[in-house]
Amino acid sequence: MKVVRTPNELRETLQSLRLDTTVGMVPTMGNLHEGHLALVRRARADCDAVVATIFVNPLQFGATEDLDSYPRSFEADCKVLDSLEVEILFSPTPETMYPHGQTEQTKTIVPKLGSSLCGERRTGHFDGVTTVVAKLFNLVQPDKAYFGEKDWQQLTIIRKMAADLNFQIEAIGVPTVRAEDNLALSSRNQYLSEEQRQLAPQLYQELCSVREAVRSGNTDYSYQEERAMHALRALGFRPDYVAIRDADSLNPPKANSNNRRVFGAAHLGQARLIDNIPIDLA
Ligand code: PAF
Repeated sequence: MKVVRTPNELRETLQSLRLDTTVGMVPTMGNLHEGHLALVRRARADCDAVVATIFVNPLQFGATEDLDSYPRSFEADCKVLDSLEVEILFSPTPETMYPHGQTEQTKTIVPKLGSSLCGERRTGHFDGVTTVVAKLFNLVQPDKAYFGEKDWQQLTIIRKMAADLNFQIEAIGVPTVRAEDNLALSSRNQYLSEEQRQLAPQLYQELCSVREAVRSGNTDYSYQEERAMHALRALGFRPDYVAIRDADSLNPPKANSNNRRVFGAAHLGQARLIDNIPIDLA
């Protein structure tokens, strides 16, 4: 019998007992678009077996949000996942995931990181995300799990949760997939009218102009954030925030931070759009 004393040693010992297979998990809420497919392709390339999940998780929707109208396309999703040679699709019902109802469900909460930016506007949203992702991690026990960088805050929070709770799972970020006009792909883009769809890439454009200002030496971040919000309002958006943050801590960057991103969230018609881009200070 081998006695192990540390989590790392435990993991290594268990791994040597497992079959030599790496399992990749791609958690989604379905209605798959090219952004999701990029996650599946990456998982397929990295791992021996791919498990995708489709679950529109009620726990991460606020009372006035779009749980009922969230686009669902299960049959089409199955076809595309099958064509990408996904081995297993796990698509449980809410009753299976939350047999005692949502209010009695034990929650996994990442403090601080989960309460800024989108967390400030969507109270409890990230608690719902981390709770379901923790359950999926336990159920699937993948080696790697794949998440889109469009939801950078989500990715950061999931990495923190995985580290804090000693999940031996690597959360891998996959770059945002954009339409030709640079709008970040999202299932919620379907809520946009034709006219709003034309306007929507302006969110990305405003983030780019903030990045340009920072790159060219402008250090008044509050001014840049305000200017971009003002420009978005003038175009007809209802911005929640434009914020320059340290990419890891999600705090306003310190002078020596060399990993910054600019984040934006704005309502346009029925849709709430989010996006973020890195500010590489060359
Ligand atoms: O990004 C999503 O689609 C969801 O938040 C996730 C990670 C599948 C959890 O429900």
